[in-house]
Amino acid sequence: MLLPCVRSLARAVPRACSCSAHGPSPRGYSRAAPGKGLVLGVYSSEKDGTAQFTSAGDAFDRLVSGKLRALLSLCGPPLKKGKTRIFHGLHQDFPSVAVVGLGKKNAGINEQENWNEGKENIRTAVAVGCRQIQDLEIPCVEVDPCGDAQAAAEGAVLGLHEYNELKQKKKPVVTPQLHGSAEKEAWQKGVIYAEGQNLARYLMEAPANYITPIKFAEHIEQKLRSFSSVKVHIRQESWITTQEMGAFLSVAKGSAEPPIFLEIHYLGSANTDDSPLVFVGKGVTFDSGGISLKPSSGMDAMRADMGGAATVCSAIVTAAALNLPLNIIGLAPLCENMPSGKANKPGDVVRAKNGKTIQVDNTDAEGRLLLADALCYAHNFNARAIVNAATLTGAMDVALGSAATGVFTNSSWLWSHLYEASILTGDRVWRMPLFEHYTKQVTDCPLADVSNIGKYSRAGGACTAAAFLKEFVTASHWAHLDIAGVMSNKDEVPYLRKGMAGRPTRTLVEFAARLSQDSHNAK
Ligand code: BES
Ligand code: ZN
Ligand code: ZN
Repeated sequence: MLLPCVRSLARAVPRACSCSAHGPSPRGYSRAAPGKGLVLGVYSSEKDGTAQFTSAGDAFDRLVSGKLRALLSLCGPPLKKGKTRIFHGLHQDFPSVAVVGLGKKNAGINEQENWNEGKENIRTAVAVGCRQIQDLEIPCVEVDPCGDAQAAAEGAVLGLHEYNELKQKKKPVVTPQLHGSAEKEAWQKGVIYAEGQNLARYLMEAPANYITPIKFAEHIEQKLRSFSSVKVHIRQESWITTQEMGAFLSVAKGSAEPPIFLEIHYLGSANTDDSPLVFVGKGVTFDSGGISLKPSSGMDAMRADMGGAATVCSAIVTAAALNLPLNIIGLAPLCENMPSGKANKPGDVVRAKNGKTIQVDNTDAEGRLLLADALCYAHNFNARAIVNAATLTGAMDVALGSAATGVFTNSSWLWSHLYEASILTGDRVWRMPLFEHYTKQVTDCPLADVSNIGKYSRAGGACTAAAFLKEFVTASHWAHLDIAGVMSNKDEVPYLRKGMAGRPTRTLVEFAARLSQDSHNAK
C-alpha cells in the first residue's frame, strides 16, 4: 500500500525559529518552536510524468538523497497548477515542506490574457504553499524563488495577508523569507510591492467607524513619517471652503464626520522641480447613497468606497519605500456620504471649483462630485500626468466584473504605460471609451451646466461617469481608473483571500516606476 504524503522518512528535530520576527525567546531558552516551513515549486512535467523541480527543489531533493522526488511519485499523478502536497520530517531544518504546482515551465506573456502567466503562476503557487504552512501554525516559512523572486515574494506576502485586527482569535503570524541567497533584491522589491497592496486592503477592509476621513489621513501620515522626501498636508474643512470646492463640500455636509483633503508630496526626483505625476483618489469612507439611499443588503461593503484614495496613497507609500526617482503628488478628498437634514437633495445645484454648476440628480453619484473638485485642484501642479482612481460605478462591475480595472483616458501614451505595467503585475487594465456620445448625456441638463447622472439612466453608467469627470479636466494626459469591479475578491484572484482587494496598487506602483525610467531615459 502506498502512503501519500509520508511522514517521518527522516526524524524531525524541532528547532527554534531564527527569523527576525521570531528570534530566540527571552532569557535564552530555546522555545519549543516547530522549526521552519519550506515552500518549493514544481513544474508540470511534459512527457514522462516525473517531477520537474525548480533549481531550489532540485537542490533540496539532492540534500535529502532523492527522497522528495521519490515521495512525489509515490503520491500519485503530477501536481497540477496551484495544487499542493505537504511532506513532514524530510529534513531537520524544515520539518514541513509544501510542494506546489507551478504549471508549465516556460510560461511567459499570454497574449489572450494580457498578463505574464509565469509570474501569475508563481504568485498563486507560493500563496497556496504559504497558507498551508500557516495552517500548521509554523511561524516561519522559506520560499523557493521559483525563478522570479519578486513574484514569489508577492505571492507570499499577499497570500498570507488577512484583516483580523478586531478579532480576539487571530491567525498565526507567518514570516516569509527567501530560500537561498540569490535574488535578494528582487525578493525585497516583491515584499515592498505586496505590502503596499496590503496597506490598501487594510484601509478598505477596516470598518467605517474605524477609518473615518481623519483616521485615514493620520494612518497614511504615520506610514510616511520616516521619509524625509515626503510632506503630508491634512487639510481641514476651512481650507476646503477657501478652495471653493463646492461639489465636494455638498457631499460632506450630509455627515457629522468632518471632511479632510489629504495632500501628499513625494519628491523622489533629483530635481525637486521636475513635473510630478499627480494621483487623485476617491475617498468616501462610507457611501450610504445619501438621500438616494442604497438598499441595506450589502451596504457594509461601501466602507471600501475609499478604495481610490487607499490605492493611490498606498502606491505613494510604496514609491517612497522603493525610493523611486520621480515626484508624485497624491490628492484624496475624504468624507462620508450620509442622509441627513443637511444632505444634498436630488435636484440641488452645486458649484465646483472651476465654476461649473452641477445638478445633483442622484445623491448616490457622489464620487464624481468629490473628484470634480480634486481634479480641478490637480491642475495647479503642472503635472506630467493626472491619474485618478475611484470605486465610481456599479456599472463598471457589470461591464468587466473583477477581471480588470476600466481605464478611461485621453492619452494613448498614458494608456500604454498603464497597460505595460499591468501585464507585469497581473492586476489588469482594460481601455474604455471617452466618446462625445456620453458627454452629451451629462451636459444636457435642465438646471445646471452638467448633471451628475446620464440622462438615459443606467445605460453606459461607467462611461457617463467618466464623461462627467472629463468636464473638469483640461490636462492632455489624464486617466480615470474605475476600480468598482476590482474592489473586492471572492476567489477570482487565487493569491488574495476573500475580502477587499487593494487593486490595482501594484499596477500604479509599476506604472510610476516606468514613468521614472522614462524621465531617466530622456535625460
Ligand atoms: N460607490 C458607488 C459605486 C460602487 C458600487 C462601488 C458597487 C463599488 C461597488 C457609487 O458612489 C455609486 O453609488 N454609484 C451609483 C451611480 C448611479 C447612481 C448613477 C451606481 O453605480 O449605482
Ligand atoms: Zn454612491
Ligand atoms: Zn460611492
